[in-house]
Amino acid sequence: MIGNDVAHAARLLEQGKLVAIPTETVYGLAGNALDINAIGEIYLVKNRPIFNPLILHVPNLEIAQKYVTHFPKEALKLARQFWPGSLSILLPKSELVQDIVTAGSSHVVIRVPNHPLTLKLLNSIDFPLVAPSANISNTVSPTSADHVQNGIGNQIDYILDGGKCPIGIESTIISIENGQVQVLREGGISQEKIIKMSGLPISGSTKKSIQTPGQLKKHYATQKPLHIVESISDYLTENPTQNCSILYYEERDNHDIEHIHFLSKDYDLSEIANQLFALMRLADQDPTDCILIEPVKLEGIGRAVDDRLRRAANI
Ligand code: TXA
Ligand code: MG
Repeated sequence: MIGNDVAHAARLLEQGKLVAIPTETVYGLAGNALDINAIGEIYLVKNRPIFNPLILHVPNLEIAQKYVTHFPKEALKLARQFWPGSLSILLPKSELVQDIVTAGSSHVVIRVPNHPLTLKLLNSIDFPLVAPSANISNTVSPTSADHVQNGIGNQIDYILDGGKCPIGIESTIISIENGQVQVLREGGISQEKIIKMSGLPISGSTKKSIQTPGQLKKHYATQKPLHIVESISDYLTENPTQNCSILYYEERDNHDIEHIHFLSKDYDLSEIANQLFALMRLADQDPTDCILIEPVKLEGIGRAVDDRLRRAANI
């Protein structure tokens, strides 16, 4: 069932049931983070490997502190600046966080999502929520209630409909190491924004001591192959018989190509990130054999778009 009844969603969660919740990034598949059975059900519904840990969602910074043993001052600064919002922070977990949430790790990833319905929900229950993206593992993440319905709708009790996700790409996950920020997953908040707002350095090290197990190479995959090509027009000239859907970053005249989708009007990276998953789904439904897209500009939220595209293309 789809609806916007927060009290109903809260009741179901209290009973150990699963509810899809809107966030500013993507829809999450939420369950009571203190209930092992509910958590097990999330892994089942998503067909998610058990080694892939879950993000803890809480209503505010004060409550977040219950679930960690130590909040480094840099992390506190970032939490104060970006919460509620699309920044998830890896911190040492307190004993209140079950091992199944972190897949056995001593650290938990935690965030305060910025969506009015979900904040209302989190404020009306007395437990935190775990909420991975509300899709089957390795498929495209959902950015609307309809996307959730089409994927896992028949396996869950309720979808809390909060409209389209305004950011449309998952949260940025960071850790703090020796006072430096490490980006573990590119996402809704760009590195540039973190540096500009917090003044904290971002560690350039490519050898991360902590990995996010969920960042598998093949992820966010469309059903048909997605190819990242340097030039779409060159590719079409060289492969005249291929029947492809095309994703462009900006509007243009291409009257001779049938299945074409524009990610933004004039190369606006926020709009591109926002439209990416929805248009990957549309392209998947075209009567074509593959999806073509050119590399995106590697700046700001473009880095998160690039990350998702590479995983979709499995390169
Ligand atoms: O925007 C988001 O973060 C969305 C919304 C629903 O909040 N959630 C989301 O969850 O993207 P999920 O499960 O699809 O991705 C979480 C990522 C995975 O790559 C997982 O491996 C990583 O976070 N992660 C979670 N807990 C971790 C931990 N304790 N240590 C390392 N990585 C962790
Ligand atoms: Mg996911």
